[in-house]
Amino acid sequence: MSTPLMEVRGLSKVYRRGGLWSRTQVNAVRDLSMTIDAGQIVALVGESGSGKTTAGRILARLVRPTAGTVEFEGRPAGHQPEPTVQMIFQDVFGSLNPAHSVGHHLRRAIVRSAHEDDVDKTVAELLGSVGLRPAERFAKRYSHELSGGQRQRVGIARALAPAPRLVIADEPVSMLDMSVRVDILNLLAGLREKRGVALLYITHDLVSARYLADRITVMFSGYGVESAPATALLDEPQHPYTRLLLASVPGSTTTPTKPTVTKPTVAKPATTADGCPFVARCPLATEQCATVMPPVTTLPGDRWVRCHAVQS
Ligand SMILES: Nc1ncnc2c1ncn2[C@@H]1O[C@H](COP(=O)(O)OP(=O)(O)OP(=O)(O)O)[C@@H](O)[C@H]1O
Ligand SMILES: [Mg+2]
Repeated sequence: MSTPLMEVRGLSKVYRRGGLWSRTQVNAVRDLSMTIDAGQIVALVGESGSGKTTAGRILARLVRPTAGTVEFEGRPAGHQPEPTVQMIFQDVFGSLNPAHSVGHHLRRAIVRSAHEDDVDKTVAELLGSVGLRPAERFAKRYSHELSGGQRQRVGIARALAPAPRLVIADEPVSMLDMSVRVDILNLLAGLREKRGVALLYITHDLVSARYLADRITVMFSGYGVESAPATALLDEPQHPYTRLLLASVPGSTTTPTKPTVTKPTVAKPATTADGCPFVARCPLATEQCATVMPPVTTLPGDRWVRCHAVQS
C-alpha cells in the first residue's frame, strides 16, 4: 500500500475559555484519525460545532492539536503552516484585504522560486485557471469590485499559488448564491484532474459531499463517527447519526433507525461525560452507550464506524 498524502492519528483539541474564576473547556476534536491519499477528495461532514473547522485548521497547521500526530507523506508534519497544504475559507468577504488588488494577493502567495519576471505570468495563469479572464483585468480589481463567486475564485487561486498537494476547503460555497455554488464545486473537483491536488472538503451538506467526494468522514461532537467510500456511506449508512443526516436530505429514502446490524434498544439512558455524545438523540441507545464511548470498529469495504450498535 502506498503512503497516504496526509495521515492523522488520535487528534484532539481542547480549547480553554474563561478567566481566573470560571474556566470551561471545549473538546473541539476528540480522538480523530483519518487519511487522505494523493489526489483524493475527502469530505468532512457534520453539524455546526462538530469540530470540522478545528480539524481542518489542525491539518493546515494553523492550530496546534492538544494530542495526536499529523504526518505528511509519511513524515511528521512541522508546527508551521507549509506551502504544501493550503486552506480556502468560507468567508469570501473577509478573506481578502479590501486595500489590496487581486494581483497583490496572488503575488504575495506565490512561492518565489522562479525569476521575478515570471510572477506576473504566474498570476495570469492562476486567474485563468480559476476562470477569471481576462486575467490582466481581474488582477487589477479590488474585492469590492468582485461578486461573491469571483471572490471565492480568487481565494482558490491564492490557495493554488504555492502549488499545494492538499487544499482544505472549509464550507467554500455556503456563503454563495445557489446559482454559483455548482460552478465553484466543479472548479474544486477539476483541481484534482488538472493539478493532482487532493481536497479536504468541509461541509454541513451531504448532497454536495456526495457530488464531490471519493470518501466521506462524518463528525459528531468532535468525534469521527463514521467513514467510508462516499457511495457506500450514502447507500448503507451504519451510524445512527449518519442515517439521521441522510434522512434529512430532501428526497431521501433513508429511515433514521435501521443500520444493518443492531442491538435491541432500552429505555433512553442519561448522558454521561464518558459515554457516546450522540446517546440523547440516538434511537438505538443502550445503557452501555451512556457510560462507555464506543471504540472505532473497522468494517469490510474500507470503512469504519464508532457505534456500539454496529458490529464488524
Ligand atoms: N478558538 C476557539 N476558542 C474556543 N472554542 C472554540 C474555538 N474554535 C472553535 N471552538 C469551539 O470548538 C467547537 C468546534 O468548533 P468548530 O468551529 O471546529 O466546529 P464546526 O464543525 O466547524 O462548526 P460550524 O459548522 O459551525 O463551522 C465549538 O464548540 C466551538 O465553539
Ligand atoms: Mg466550521
